[in-house]
Amino acid sequence: MIDLDDVLAARERVAETARHTPLDYSHTVSEMTGADVHLKLETFQRTGAFKIRGATNRIATLSAAEQEAGVVTASAGNHAQGVALAATRAGVDATVVMPEHAPVAKVKATRGYGGRVVLHGDDYAEAAERAHEIEREEGRTYVHAFDDPMVMAGQGTIGLEVMEDLPGTETVVVPIGGGGLISGIATAVKAKKPEVRVVGVQAEGASSVAQSLEKGEVVERDAVETIADGIATRRVGELTFEVIRERVDEVVTVSDDETAVALTTLLERGKTLVEGAGAVALAALLAERFDYADGETVVPCLCGGNIDLNVLTTVIMRGLVETGRYLRLRTVLKDRPGELERLVEVISTHRANIYAIEHDRASRDIAMNDAEVELDLETRGHDHVEALLDGLREAGYEVEVLV
Ligand SMILES: Cc1ncc(COP(=O)(O)O)c(C=O)c1O
Repeated sequence: MIDLDDVLAARERVAETARHTPLDYSHTVSEMTGADVHLKLETFQRTGAFKIRGATNRIATLSAAEQEAGVVTASAGNHAQGVALAATRAGVDATVVMPEHAPVAKVKATRGYGGRVVLHGDDYAEAAERAHEIEREEGRTYVHAFDDPMVMAGQGTIGLEVMEDLPGTETVVVPIGGGGLISGIATAVKAKKPEVRVVGVQAEGASSVAQSLEKGEVVERDAVETIADGIATRRVGELTFEVIRERVDEVVTVSDDETAVALTTLLERGKTLVEGAGAVALAALLAERFDYADGETVVPCLCGGNIDLNVLTTVIMRGLVETGRYLRLRTVLKDRPGELERLVEVISTHRANIYAIEHDRASRDIAMNDAEVELDLETRGHDHVEALLDGLREAGYEVEVLV
């Protein structure tokens, strides 16, 4: 099992390539939660995520012959970019196998960092199979995304930075996918200060660690479903599981809606863009998925900021809906002049802004002389939504909230 010395050694090796990222006091989140919240902004790491740390440490610890033969990995996300840049910086050749439908932006970024990209298979598993074939055919070293002591130790350098920048840290909150990140961080912070609490966070649709801890062995999910694609992992690693079991205090889950709220809060209030996996630690704090005291010094790790713009659009919409800032509703009007105007007047009296409106007479669900209206509205929060719905009902409308 890795220890503090491994992380300290990793730090020497990654110092030239990985940035020491900021730890920023968040006035907004501290006020919202009553805790003393400092955000570890790994979103500002090179390549936009922490993965460069582990990859750099792994590649630096290869023998000269192994470095000469090059490395290979499979990834649809941040690990691909981390390995590509780490290898380029070390003068090592890297092949990265990505699923055929991997987002173009990620493929381009990985190539931009100097990796040779091979597109193969429908999903990560098929890409990984091909990567292992290349490992055998070309004698390259496979760089695992999490289940490798040197990768874990590299990610653990985040823990050293946190403890140095804020020795009074009481709780660190860390996302879990395969578990490499939290294994490294827990190893570093517990060695520096054993009383620091380490809380792991998984997406509800990709949770397996709590069940694995309960069962005492790694449990694999049949499927995963979450907007936090960085942690959409069916199972944690065998090595990481052992570290988690020994050094992580608590593992909680968050829903995608909670993640969307955290992500939009960071965007709007913190001017900080994170990806889904980068928002789950904050989501767990905001949704009170673990207990914390007033004034407790809490450090959520915002581990990555590489989000697909289409996904971002969806997440922002979900965040707005969840916080009562966006509402879609349906009602039925008599199909005669002036009816739509009367409806719009009620909405405007309540100062809701109409974003989109659809007026349909052809729907089979309504009477022949009725019209169905679907409205997308910008609202100012849950109280505003309630007042508007009351107003519409008082005016005689039957209203169905769609989102
Ligand atoms: C942004 C982000 N956060 C968290 C994780 C989880 O890291 P690990 O798989 O080491 O648990 C990942 C993994 O890809 C990630 O990309």
